[in-house]
Amino acid sequence: MKRNAQELMTFVFDTIGQIAALRNHETLFIELAKFARDIVFADRCSIWIYDHKNQKVWTKVAQGVASIVLDEGVGIVGCAIDKNSPLIINDVQSDKRFNPEVDIKTGYITKTMMVIPMQNQYNQTIGAIQVINKKENEFFNESDLKYLTLASTYVAESIQTILLMEEIEETQREFIYIMGATGEKRSKETGYHVKRVAEYSYLLAKLYGLNIEECDALRLVSPMHDIGKIGIPDAILNKPARLDPSEWEVMKQHAQIGYDILKNSDLRLLQASAIVAYEHHEKWDGSGYPIGLKGEEIHIYGRITALADVFDALGSERIYKPAWSDEKIFALFEEERGKHFEPKLVDLFFANKEKFFEIRERLKDV
Ligand code: C2E
Ligand code: SIN
Ligand code: SIN
Ligand code: FE
Ligand code: FE
Repeated sequence: MKRNAQELMTFVFDTIGQIAALRNHETLFIELAKFARDIVFADRCSIWIYDHKNQKVWTKVAQGVASIVLDEGVGIVGCAIDKNSPLIINDVQSDKRFNPEVDIKTGYITKTMMVIPMQNQYNQTIGAIQVINKKENEFFNESDLKYLTLASTYVAESIQTILLMEEIEETQREFIYIMGATGEKRSKETGYHVKRVAEYSYLLAKLYGLNIEECDALRLVSPMHDIGKIGIPDAILNKPARLDPSEWEVMKQHAQIGYDILKNSDLRLLQASAIVAYEHHEKWDGSGYPIGLKGEEIHIYGRITALADVFDALGSERIYKPAWSDEKIFALFEEERGKHFEPKLVDLFFANKEKFFEIRERLKDV
């Protein structure tokens, strides 16, 4: 099997054009593996990632098998990474380095193999690309090795970008978690309030039909809704009685304060946090604060967090009020359907009550 030079160029540019448009990291890895597989007419391709902390390599994508983990230096892949040199093996079964365990488990017979180790620009190991079984029982040759090496530089660059992006997301997550926990301590709100709000919001987002990325994002950022309370004086925040009108004016500023803290970040999750902080006290009928947004002018994250927050606040004891009974909460939700809350969300809540109670039970304050 062969392509001429023009066919090769067309294949490469078509493929990387399609890959460049992908945003989902899992899909990206899968398409990178297909690219490497198809450029040399192999049957399968695995992308191996080197885990520096645990000194193991593991398959990020392995066509046909579940993820495999190997100790550093083990097997043909480990060997290629160790020596940082590519390998072509056209009689795998009789190679002493070959670990036949995977074949035995999967019933797949590995005959021919190429492995290209990948490094970053600082000559640190990233992992390896492995292709298995050239189609039509052919052998891999030097020009296959050349093409796969070419593909591997592109794959290595892409993996570097993906790992960096995952690190940035992870940093945001940690930051958001720390900020949320800080706000929680300060307002003496019962311990698991933000965690429960996170889970109620996630549940509502799924029931509402948001896609999984949005559901995950909302779960992470909804605990930030009251972050602006760090700007509210203790005497007001923790007053063991109803607020008077001037105190109430100060209290309401927590939405604007939270927004001001977060609004200047370009990071995706922090932008979403800013929205939740800003809009979680807006009401469907336009009577909320700080802006008085109405209906779908309120971001879906704000509409969802509003219901999750109130459900939890009512069911919990606060320094200014006792916990409400479920009947009283249901009565308020019915009353506020289409006023405070989007009707669809209230309906979803009632249709799935027991799921909300399950979360409340699992994360109850001790
Ligand atoms: P929170 O305690 O987390 O309450 C969140 C939301 O749940 C409230 O937003 C409100 O919509 C609902 N909620 C909580 N308790 C009650 C209640 O007893 N009756 C009714 N109908 N709804 C309730 P809201 O009203 O915008 O308040 C925002 C935050 O202001 C509250 O967050 C709390 O930290 C503070 N706050 C509100 N009222 C008082 C008060 O009388 N005394 C004190 N010390 N703080 C208050
Ligand atoms: C290896 O021997 O390099 C790993 C096992 C396999 O991928 O078949
Ligand atoms: C929280 O639930 O309190 C923070 C968000 C998370 O760790 O998932
Ligand atoms: Fe609030
Ligand atoms: Fe709250």
